[in-house]
Amino acid sequence: MSENKKIPVILDGDPGHDDAIAWMLAKSDKRFEILAVTSCSGNQTIEKTTYNARRVCTLLGIDAPVAMGLKHGLLSEPFDAPVVHGQSGLDGPALPEPNTELSQLSSVELMAEVLKNSPEPVTIIATGAQTNVGALLLAHPELKEKIARISIMGGGIKYGNWTPAAEFNILVDPEAAKIVFESGIDLYMAGLDVTEKALIYPSDFERIRAVGNQVSGVVADWLEFFYHFHKSLGYPGAPLHDPCAVAVLTHPELFEIVDMHVEIECEGEYSRGATIGDTRGFDGPAPNAHVLMNVNREAFADLLVEAVKAYDGREVKI
Ligand code: RIB
Ligand code: CA
Repeated sequence: MSENKKIPVILDGDPGHDDAIAWMLAKSDKRFEILAVTSCSGNQTIEKTTYNARRVCTLLGIDAPVAMGLKHGLLSEPFDAPVVHGQSGLDGPALPEPNTELSQLSSVELMAEVLKNSPEPVTIIATGAQTNVGALLLAHPELKEKIARISIMGGGIKYGNWTPAAEFNILVDPEAAKIVFESGIDLYMAGLDVTEKALIYPSDFERIRAVGNQVSGVVADWLEFFYHFHKSLGYPGAPLHDPCAVAVLTHPELFEIVDMHVEIECEGEYSRGATIGDTRGFDGPAPNAHVLMNVNREAFADLLVEAVKAYDGREVKI
């Protein structure tokens, strides 16, 4: 994407601490024109992630319609991750009550309306299960050409996190992920291969807090909370998964990206939700994803510190 060209986007996620920080990063960059926000179930129930989405939009000043997503994966029972994100899905700092009504449209209807009305193709940034995006592609195949690219946080070529084979977002809805990966739409995949290297250290939390505005304080508190679970597993910092799916669109130079063919395993007693990357380098099918494999950690952390400065002077009632 060129330096100053506007990027119309739809933010879809399951806030979730790292989704919220990803949306903070997106909102801080004036190149992103946020046209809609849609929630998905995953980190918590759809009701909780939707409430969180609305509160995060209020905190950040994201002036876009918010629509509730589908209750669970296309062919999966819902499951959530309170051990990571807490009972609310966004435990930790107090947040403002939503200052706008929830859209009367469903996530798929809102996405479709935005795509139809946009004068140019729209980028979808999906940082949860891809349920809404998969459903959109099933319901509106005619709108595929209005999707410029999809940037996801999900998967892991080398390993999973929720199971040895599967990363959480893909496991929540493998069928939706399969639809997305087989869609032919330009696809960026920020999987665990890169996100577990995108570590934000406690010293970075304090750099963010020291910026000294309301959002920087909330982001530092989100990082503190998100780090608790990972610290108990021995991580030296918080693996900031979802912001990678935003940063790659405006700062691709921070990442090592490998184009490869990725299949989504939907069967398999032990392998359901796996993202199988063809790294053989010969004879395989054509690549269907730009897979992020490494990141300049220091520059990524600096990007977040700079991003919160964009909120200087903003204060909402909490
Ligand atoms: O596996 C990490 C992913 O699962 C992140 O998107 C996090 O927010 C959770 O949704
Ligand atoms: Ca997420």
